[in-house]
Amino acid sequence: MPAPAKAKKRVQGLRDSINHHNYRYHVLDDPEIPDVEYDRLVRELTELEQKYPELVAVDSPTQRVGAEPIKSFAEVRHAVPMLSLGNAFTEQDLIDFDRRVRERLATEKNVEYAAEPKLDGVAVSLLYEDGKLVRGATRGDGSTGEDVTHNVRTVNAIPLRLQGKKYPATLEVRGEVYMPKAGFEAFNARARKAGTKPFVNPRNAAAGSLRQLDPKLTSERPLAFFCYGLGQVDKSQVPGGHSAILDGLKDWGLPVSPLSRVVQGVEGCLEFYAETMERRDGLPYDIDGVVYKVDSLADQEKLGFVSRAPRWAVAHKFPAQEELTTIRAIEFQVGRTGAVTPVARLEPVFVGGVTVSNATLHNMDELKRKDVRIGDTVIIRRAGDVIPEVVQVVKDRRPKRTRKITMPKKCPVCGSDVIRPEGEAVARCTGGFVCSAQRKEAIKHFAGRTAMDIEGLGSRIVDQLVDNDIVSTPADIFSLTQEQIAALERMAEKSAGNLVEAVKKSKSTTLAHFLYALGIREVGEATAQNLANHFGKLEPIQHATQEQLEEVPDIGPIVAAHIVGFFKQAHNRKVIKALLKAGVKWPVLKVRKPKDLRLAGKTFVLTGSLRKMTRRDAKARIQELGGRASGSVSAKTDYVVAGDKPGSTLRKAEELAIPVLSEQELANLLK
Ligand code: IVH
Repeated sequence: MPAPAKAKKRVQGLRDSINHHNYRYHVLDDPEIPDVEYDRLVRELTELEQKYPELVAVDSPTQRVGAEPIKSFAEVRHAVPMLSLGNAFTEQDLIDFDRRVRERLATEKNVEYAAEPKLDGVAVSLLYEDGKLVRGATRGDGSTGEDVTHNVRTVNAIPLRLQGKKYPATLEVRGEVYMPKAGFEAFNARARKAGTKPFVNPRNAAAGSLRQLDPKLTSERPLAFFCYGLGQVDKSQVPGGHSAILDGLKDWGLPVSPLSRVVQGVEGCLEFYAETMERRDGLPYDIDGVVYKVDSLADQEKLGFVSRAPRWAVAHKFPAQEELTTIRAIEFQVGRTGAVTPVARLEPVFVGGVTVSNATLHNMDELKRKDVRIGDTVIIRRAGDVIPEVVQVVKDRRPKRTRKITMPKKCPVCGSDVIRPEGEAVARCTGGFVCSAQRKEAIKHFAGRTAMDIEGLGSRIVDQLVDNDIVSTPADIFSLTQEQIAALERMAEKSAGNLVEAVKKSKSTTLAHFLYALGIREVGEATAQNLANHFGKLEPIQHATQEQLEEVPDIGPIVAAHIVGFFKQAHNRKVIKALLKAGVKWPVLKVRKPKDLRLAGKTFVLTGSLRKMTRRDAKARIQELGGRASGSVSAKTDYVVAGDKPGSTLRKAEELAIPVLSEQELANLLK
């Protein structure tokens, strides 16, 4: 059946609308509609195209993943070579660069520079013919790269078709494909869980993803793109300044870094450098420096090139996020639940802006896979506020006579047996409360902000309290005196008084906080809340059978068994009794029927402003129904609710493929 005119019109309307929303999202960073609505548009278009195949077009937003994997990569010769940049590592390097520029231009005046972040990804060239994306290529050796058209087409931030009218007939855009930090972390967390190989860093992740033969695999990787310049183009058709070109690219629908701006002279460059460095950790992607480019194209022409780099641009590098150092020792740390994890003690090294002397090795499987040994030279990575990790061993620098690290059979802290249950990734100390490491961690957890919230009872104080045998269970906290605390290292009369007050204040809590604070294995905040909602009181939870517990939303046999096991232990019952005796209390909850707990175990993140309800009311209602309202998006988030002006949370949600609800959809859920 030929497509009726109505369908044809609707298909065009949908494409325009989808392209528009893509632009709002990726280029303007200002989405107008939530993802669900966007998905609905794509679904409708897909259905129409399936019904009327003659309406399918290569630049339709549904056609990002081509059908077949390619067999090998074709070569692409770059009409204009893809160059690299000279580096400035110090302020002096930059001053020298600027002096050379001004000498060659024979000017004393401040030069106008276009300043941009230097993205840490993979350089690509995108060729648009009559506004259609016809080819994507990697840089390769600068003259010849690889054809990765099938893969760049899957990157949502890269438009398949330019918008507006005034673009040149042939336009080659250059820029960086990168993997945002959140997507990288989520990918690696999944890989570690599945026992497959994680990526070393976001740059390798982006490069590896672009070099897939099967575009379907690439489409599953959360890649993004920013452009920073042009390749082949008719110069008479573009403006005479770099910054103006970027503005033009943005108008044609290509994403340009919002941090880019024009600065005046060295002073302006240094200001931009300091500002960008300040923002570095907070950005959703990795940058390894900033780039300054002489803004005037006429001046660029005068300056020309030296070997393979332009004289009119320089990369001003940030302190590296990866560094080499050596392993002094590998120790095993014991956590709250007895999990024994390997940590590397390092020759201190300055990386990512701080001195690092410890790095995580995650677990035994990871340690085995990386085969890290004492004396090894390793690459350490510290990006933002992520815990520093050992990325990889430099094998050819391994000293002679090293040996493989094995899991200790006895707990390094208490000497109890360490066992690794079949099928589990972690080994555990069986010492329980006998183990002072587990005791310390249990007490720190108990006092934590999301548990009993005892302000001022931090890690260092707990360590001292346990080491000096002043505190051995959470209940002991409540009989601490000001004198006892003041006698600890780095404690004064006043801070000791404050802590005593904070302990007292923490006694009024909620059942959910109390349950969570007990530190029962697998009972997180959401499960604790579900338990509290379901039973209303502590007593019935303590005596609940496995079956009764499994009636609670989101509690399965494993969690139920942990809960039963916890309350079975005389030691735990004794501690609870002592806590109640010390005056820990909470308001009694009305027991709600399970049918009212529709949102049990679900975590929501609200972003943007809501129109019909306040955020506080929405949160309270979510919690009432057994759900959890969290402040930030992670792989554990179930839904993101997008109000007006949702900001970066929404983007992160998309990277992690988390469903997004509109305010109306939330209201329906809460009704
Ligand atoms: S301009 C002729 N601008 O850095 C100038 N490059 O070391 C060519 N890069 O291969 C590059 N962000 O992959 C330029 N804002 C930026 C950049 C940038 C990252 C990468 C690019 C290039 C490498 C050069």
